[in-house]
Amino acid sequence: MKLIENVRDMKEMIQKEKKNGKTIGFVPTMGFLHEGHLSLVREAVKKSECSVVSIFVNPAQFGPEEDFSRYPRDEDRDLRLLDKEGVSYAFVPKPQEMYPRGYRTYVQVQDMENRLCGASRPGHFKGVCTVVLKLFHIVQPDTAIFGQKDAQQAIILKRMIRDLNLDIVLRIMPIVRDKDGLALSSRNAYLGSEQREAAVCLYQSLKQAEQAVKDGERNADLVRSLIQEKIAGEPLARMDYAAVVDSENLKPLETIQPGQTLLALAVFIGETRLIDNMML
Ligand code: PAF
Repeated sequence: MKLIENVRDMKEMIQKEKKNGKTIGFVPTMGFLHEGHLSLVREAVKKSECSVVSIFVNPAQFGPEEDFSRYPRDEDRDLRLLDKEGVSYAFVPKPQEMYPRGYRTYVQVQDMENRLCGASRPGHFKGVCTVVLKLFHIVQPDTAIFGQKDAQQAIILKRMIRDLNLDIVLRIMPIVRDKDGLALSSRNAYLGSEQREAAVCLYQSLKQAEQAVKDGERNADLVRSLIQEKIAGEPLARMDYAAVVDSENLKPLETIQPGQTLLALAVFIGETRLIDNMML
């Protein structure tokens, strides 16, 4: 695996690979890799002739009160893991490479960026879309691979790719969960042992809602209140939002449409904000 730390070198290597007819598979990450990331990486390595994984904790997607400075980082371990998976290039740019002095250009996917997580994290998706579009320009992937764990991110990026006529296939890989059902996330590292036990309430609330829908419930408000009740029953948890939305445009639904409905929630366990979701 080659480690590349600046934009110019990355572009040069990609041009060479493309000239040799290689297909490029790309996984953007913020590092502190876990099995969820590695499932995306394996897909890239398996399905493309040249695989690129970026590691960049993107300051533009964190609010001023959020955890940018304490976001977990372990670059050496990440690079070892990527090397072991057979990745062709690790792209690890410095913030000044991605946002040089005087940087002014941002990308917004209107309306969708303010819903769900966007309502409690203003500017978050503007930061995500901006960095992902920049990375797409640098890496020029044929396929980009993201996780279903960040469902809203995947839906917004799909819209951005369509709106901006990018010739990139987006692949979304299933959520990877711990044995008890907690979705893997770099932020799980913040949880103490009691909090870790409590955090399973996110998954349990989704399972309960899913069961209700399987049993025939179609009232979206009622399904949402099942999730809220389950979270309210966990003393260490505080609800940010629970939503039952259309999986294309993120607009709230009154009636569950199987095949087209996303259940999504964000919950604080102590100071740690966790998200999870389920497609119905
Ligand atoms: O999902 C993430 O880890 C980040 O939002 C991403 C896509 C790498 C952009 O910084």
